[in-house]
Amino acid sequence: MTQPSRLQFPDHFLWGAATAAHQVEGNNINNDWWTREHNGGPRVDEPSGDACDSYHRFREDIALLAEAGFNTYRFSLEWSRIEPEPGCFSRAQIDHYCRMVDACHEFGLAPVVTLQHFTLPKWLAVEGGWLAPDAAALFGRFTEIALSVVAEGVEWVCTINEPNMVAKIEGGEPTYPITSSAHTHLDKRVSDTLVLAHRRSREVLADVPAIKSGWTIASQAFSPVPGSEPIAREYGYPREDFFLEAARGDDFVGVQAYSRTRIGPDGPLPVPANAETTQMGWEYFPPALGIGVRHAWKVTAGVPIMVTENGIATADDARRISYTHGALTGLHEAINDGIKVLGYVHWSALDNYEWGSYKPTFGLIAVNRETFARTVKPSASWLGAVAKANTLEPTES
Ligand code: BGC
Repeated sequence: MTQPSRLQFPDHFLWGAATAAHQVEGNNINNDWWTREHNGGPRVDEPSGDACDSYHRFREDIALLAEAGFNTYRFSLEWSRIEPEPGCFSRAQIDHYCRMVDACHEFGLAPVVTLQHFTLPKWLAVEGGWLAPDAAALFGRFTEIALSVVAEGVEWVCTINEPNMVAKIEGGEPTYPITSSAHTHLDKRVSDTLVLAHRRSREVLADVPAIKSGWTIASQAFSPVPGSEPIAREYGYPREDFFLEAARGDDFVGVQAYSRTRIGPDGPLPVPANAETTQMGWEYFPPALGIGVRHAWKVTAGVPIMVTENGIATADDARRISYTHGALTGLHEAINDGIKVLGYVHWSALDNYEWGSYKPTFGLIAVNRETFARTVKPSASWLGAVAKANTLEPTES
């Protein structure tokens, strides 16, 4: 009997893991999330505090990823550190992020830098956040300053993380809808501003020809029950396709996939009672990645795709491996069908602050909450080995 052959990924494929500044750095006291955490904001069980202290320990984090076998690290800049007051820029903080880029190179990782990952400086939040009259221009100005970090040695820049989730959150919707009343609040003004901000940022980045820029979209794998296809299109368009359409012509688009959203005649449906769920309450659904990649390829009309996030919140690391194996199998099928995929970046490198709580653990690496000691999980070694081989065994070993 012949063995099924290994799944080979394209040459120069990026294999990495991701973090975001506020979720790992600690003490980001100048942003809107810090305010929310200390003022009884919605869905906050505990504050971020010291997070993973990656602000000081980033070299260790980068070294661990390199040792595991990865060639890429996606991290984000914290706008509120670089611009703590409007127009007041910190040279020392810019240098900090330059040192992160340098550390990536020292350990052989390609940096993928996100300019804005959910948090805004407090001063901008006070002005209305993305609804402030000059929000897009201010993000453009921040991008000009961020050029000092990315102009040398950074090929991949993500402007704004999950603008579609930002528009949902600003409109008061939960990120993964579980009630059918959720679809009335999306704020179109936020969506339009985010598109303007993204375009302005890309214009600034275009001054550096070596940079390839795009934005990263939360893929929700909208799955209509029979007969609900029109409502799925209507519901899904402003929450995903609008932002994918805005990526047409970009250098790449980031796809971030975790689960699916089933749609019935009245909109989103709850996760079925018999389905396996993750620590987030999301349905365990590895095919979400393949579905998301195919959808993004279609709607963007062929913009190269980077998987900038994919992962699972679980305390069972073996389940993380199974989930990731399933997701990568679907990704490989999409590549075989001719979709151009640049890389796969897992969420997350570390167990970190999951926007209100440390309980969901998405990390390939565990972090002790008292000592900050890192422990590499078997899933990190497994995925790192896949990365090194640039192939996936067809069945999980
Ligand atoms: C975000 C991350 C978040 C992850 C899991 C994505 O929506 O970009 O910041 O931690 O999903 O919820």
